[in-house]
Amino acid sequence: MMTLQNTFPTLTAQEAVAFIPHGATVAFSGFSPAGSAKEVPLAIAGHARREHAQGRPYQIRVLTGASSGRCIDEELAGAEAISWRAPYQGGKSLRRQINAQQTEYVDMHLSHVPQMAAWGFFGKIDLAVVEATEITSDGRVYLTSSIGASPTYLKFAERVIIELNRSHSPRLRELADIIVLPPPPHRNPIPVHDPMTRIGVPYAVVDPKKVLGVVETDSCDDVEAFSVVNDDVARIGQHVAEFLLQEWASGRIPKDFLPLQSGVGNIANALMAALGDCTDLPAFWMYSEVFQDALVTLMESGRLLGASATSLTVTTPRLKHLIDNLDFFGSRIVLRPQEISNHPGIIRRLGVISMNTALEADIYGNVNSSHVYGMDIVNGIGGSGEFTRNGYLSLFMTPSTAKGGHISAIVPMCPHIDNNEHSVQVLVTEQGLADLRGLGPVQRARLIIDKCAHPAYRDYLHAYLAEARTGHIRHDLARCFELHRNLLEKGTMRPEGGV
Ligand code: COA
Repeated sequence: MMTLQNTFPTLTAQEAVAFIPHGATVAFSGFSPAGSAKEVPLAIAGHARREHAQGRPYQIRVLTGASSGRCIDEELAGAEAISWRAPYQGGKSLRRQINAQQTEYVDMHLSHVPQMAAWGFFGKIDLAVVEATEITSDGRVYLTSSIGASPTYLKFAERVIIELNRSHSPRLRELADIIVLPPPPHRNPIPVHDPMTRIGVPYAVVDPKKVLGVVETDSCDDVEAFSVVNDDVARIGQHVAEFLLQEWASGRIPKDFLPLQSGVGNIANALMAALGDCTDLPAFWMYSEVFQDALVTLMESGRLLGASATSLTVTTPRLKHLIDNLDFFGSRIVLRPQEISNHPGIIRRLGVISMNTALEADIYGNVNSSHVYGMDIVNGIGGSGEFTRNGYLSLFMTPSTAKGGHISAIVPMCPHIDNNEHSVQVLVTEQGLADLRGLGPVQRARLIIDKCAHPAYRDYLHAYLAEARTGHIRHDLARCFELHRNLLEKGTMRPEGGV
């Protein structure tokens, strides 16, 4: 196939910025740092700083697939150039601005994003800036290390700029399986019958008339390495592995096992390594969202048979290793649009076992993964809702304490809830595992306190339960946030009298 790269003008990033006025809505490629636009957001940040220095307002509204890389959630945010952000973020600078109400943030389920963007729920998308390894003259766009919502942004944005990234291998297209769903109510069942089924094509499509030009770059994704696994995290992994083994041995998980989903972050990455080490469990497949570092090794050892995801969120050396060995990895990884990787119907059909991380859980199994004190955002709900609500088995993990024991991850009531007791079936901390299936609220509470809470907070939590008003669910509305109030006022949750 002939490539006509020079059909589109080459732009410098600064020239691209001329197309982006104050107030524009810009959809950037990227799902985590993987595949995120880099040069254009950096140039927008510089432009914003210059405009602000001249006393002129300059901010844009920013959409991405999920979180993004340094160039958007740090640099662009640091230039105070983001007025509105959706659907997920993970940057320290942006987090600060959101929590100071300087940036409006819409924290939402990630599989909903393409449909909402397509139907104008966020208003008109003025421009899409999408990283690719190639664009052909007829408008085929070969994406890089993530798919995310880019196919939808390319289709529905008024105008498009392509960031052509030479640091990425053109062979990444071998992993891509892209489809944009037709609008409701004309949708057929999505024919993904096992984690590796391919139903689309390796490229996204854009109307070439909309393409303003191509910006060239060779910047890499810069995915941060995970922290070293500590004992608590290793114990969480062991509890989950033992639980899955028991479920499998008892026949509640079928003999050929079920696909796994694993959330984002240090704990999720370490959990997958632990499941890989547990060779009593059969080798498994994944139907997940993000392909993290630990999975590369698991795949090579034969423990992970194949994985469906929407992004390759791996460190640069891992990505290089993967590309150098693409004859092996190419048939074992599928990258899909987030509408498909996180699709509730497919998750339910495949019987995915979902495993996500909580900041805290309450004694009834309601989970908060996103807002400290119910007020300050950390990252967002991400894809955890779609996997938890629709999983065959839905687990949540968290260390039982944070910040040197000053925070208990098991509390009487979560001040913000992303995933509720109706969907969360199993809760795990380094202390143990609470299997909540088939239990009423008070029975759940006793089990969670005994199995999951840190011993230093158990008496307090039992006393809370015993003294609370009786109802189907027991609570004391005057005291349910006492631990959080302690944390806000004294910097520690520890109740008076000490624990
Ligand atoms: N209250 C306040 N802070 C808490 C806390 C609590 N109950 N529990 C943890 N923290 C802090 C930690 O101390 C740490 O702070 P630091 O960065 O200052 O050290 C931070 O939160 C992250 O905790 P960590 O233990 O490193 O966890 P992680 O990297 O595994 O991330 C989540 C945990 C919950 C933040 C992360 O998984 C997330 O954003 N989840 C929501 C989205 C999601 O589930 N996506 C996947 C769906 S497919």
